[in-house]
Amino acid sequence: MSENVRKQIQALRKEVQKHEELYRKKHAPEISDFEFDKLVDRLADLERAHPHLAGPDLGIGDDKSEGFQQADHKAPMLSLDNTYDEADFRAFGERLGKALGGTGLEFIVEPKVDGVAVSLTFEKGKFVRAVTRGNGARGDDVTANVGLIREIPRKLKRAPDLLEVRGEIYMELSEFQRLNAEREAAGEPLYANPRNLAAGTVKLLDAEEAARRRLSIVCYGLGACEPADVFGTLKEFKAKLKSWGFPVRDDIDVRHGIDAAWEAIQKLDKLRRGFPFPTDGAVVKVNRIEDQRRAGTTSKFPHWAVAFKFPPDQAETILRTISMQVGRTGAITPVAELDPVLLAGSTVARATLHNADEIARKDIREGDTVRIQKAGEIIPQVLSVVLEKRPADARPFDFEGRLKELGLDATREGEEAAYRLRAPSREMKIRRLVHFASKQCLDIDGLGDAVAEQLVDLALVDAPVDALAVTPAQWRLLEGFKDKSVDNMMAGLAQAKQRELWRAIHALGIPNVGMQTAKDLARHFRSMDALANAKKPDLLITKVGKKGGVSHESVIAGVGKEVSDSILSFFSDPNHRDWVKAMRKAGLNLIGASAGGSVEGIAGKTFVLTGTLPTLGRDEARDLIEKAGGKVSGSVSKKTNYVVAGEEAGSKLTKAQELGIAILDEAGLRALLG
Ligand code: IVH
Repeated sequence: MSENVRKQIQALRKEVQKHEELYRKKHAPEISDFEFDKLVDRLADLERAHPHLAGPDLGIGDDKSEGFQQADHKAPMLSLDNTYDEADFRAFGERLGKALGGTGLEFIVEPKVDGVAVSLTFEKGKFVRAVTRGNGARGDDVTANVGLIREIPRKLKRAPDLLEVRGEIYMELSEFQRLNAEREAAGEPLYANPRNLAAGTVKLLDAEEAARRRLSIVCYGLGACEPADVFGTLKEFKAKLKSWGFPVRDDIDVRHGIDAAWEAIQKLDKLRRGFPFPTDGAVVKVNRIEDQRRAGTTSKFPHWAVAFKFPPDQAETILRTISMQVGRTGAITPVAELDPVLLAGSTVARATLHNADEIARKDIREGDTVRIQKAGEIIPQVLSVVLEKRPADARPFDFEGRLKELGLDATREGEEAAYRLRAPSREMKIRRLVHFASKQCLDIDGLGDAVAEQLVDLALVDAPVDALAVTPAQWRLLEGFKDKSVDNMMAGLAQAKQRELWRAIHALGIPNVGMQTAKDLARHFRSMDALANAKKPDLLITKVGKKGGVSHESVIAGVGKEVSDSILSFFSDPNHRDWVKAMRKAGLNLIGASAGGSVEGIAGKTFVLTGTLPTLGRDEARDLIEKAGGKVSGSVSKKTNYVVAGEEAGSKLTKAQELGIAILDEAGLRALLG
């Protein structure tokens, strides 16, 4: 019996940890919040009943990531307990009634905005930092990216000496759609939902990319306040926030009693699909601060507030076939092809099935009627099979058999969930090559989709580096390539060979290594060889704690466990080592700029670019500065040395002026560059 329970607890802990990591670190959850809460509850029940079998705290909800400085919260930053039905919600009211002596309860009911919680600290009225919840006591300092949100006031008049304002950072649905439309046009995979994209953006280390995505904030809560007792009610506090210029929801009345609060929840449920922000529920809080104090908290949740989660939209439809999608790295994702059905305002014809195990676990078969669900994400999920409607001839889905039928030679390694192609497909080879030649990699003019397709189809390119060795006679085999275009291509290739080291690193297409990481790696390792031969401790310091827990510390900011693993695994493949050899043979520059290449006055200085410069593009200006040894950041802070401002420069320029930072125009920058 005990052995059985032990195994159950172990399995549940593993499952909870996996989904927590998918949600919190990868921003790509595979199950709904409801399913996750159920897992956590089951685990808590078992561990409570068998305390001798319970393991250490799993740190659920802790969002701290590698590559960030951390800061303490002055007042703990709590989360909310969830309720899913009326009875649950009324039980919350009853508990409160008992604790506070029955009558006269006042509630505030607000939409639960689906984003990331943040705490904004103001000292003597001045905005000093933005910190994520982390473990509630200490979180990640995300001031750089949160500072990009213009709606946050920087200075508060007549403010308490210290104030922590709590709020939610989110992405408006229209901004989410804009960014996804861009991704679609570029042939890149779509972001799953606005919550994950907002969370990912807050934690982006690439400042320039962060600045391209517009985040919003709504403020709703009070953390530490010194002197204390300044505010009597939440309503009063919110009115003050509004007068200071914070974005708050001010269309909210005080509700007297739990019945009125329940009515307000119902009203929100009717309105929520028209909101410009993603929402997954309502939050109900006690209005009077004194009542809040008397109700108290657990270590995780206040007793004076609760979340009510709206049920996600669901529909039933027939799953006709299961198709297979192949990604850039060769990973195969099964997709349900459905009879089109209306769900949460749009027609749905496809749903992700994640991986082979998921299909087996839910025993999903072609021809089945399935329940699908859309909870915030754009890609719906198949929840379950409606067994009563299963056709008599439906057979269990044979994943490997289907791969074979489709001619996909795939396998899966170790604990990986996904099958991957053993050898790269035509599509993968083309996409790898296009990436290799793209503006953010080796920037080979004229080598786009159409040319890449021909190179692969003519078997001139297998690995992307092969493109560097294509001879003029071979280029002539391509459609439209005459003397002049061949000359241009050869000149383009010659230029590509002189480019900076980070471009060659980025061009390799190492999973999880984007442009910024490639630059950081180039700066740190200074040669491709040093990077390719890096051992684990060169990238990551592993520490074993007193209780045997393992933690990791980055050697290079922004290069955490996932990125390190990716790099090590990439270079452990002999094929990839051959790519590096081929790069060298082709004469590609594989060494970083020496310190001697830096320009005095620029080396080590931090620049921020804003507005449109008369002749220089953003990327060009950035390249010039970096070549001279400077750094380019996306947001203005005290550490900024120069702001280069062009036409239509906005808030960054204003901030630079406020902080008294040197402001240059293009001519000034050129002068500095010599
Ligand atoms: S009040 C101690 N109000 O939902 C009270 N939270 O699932 C803390 N959230 O941690 C929160 N909208 O990140 C509050 N109007 C709202 C909210 C809200 C979204 C988030 C917040 C919280 C999480 C709990």
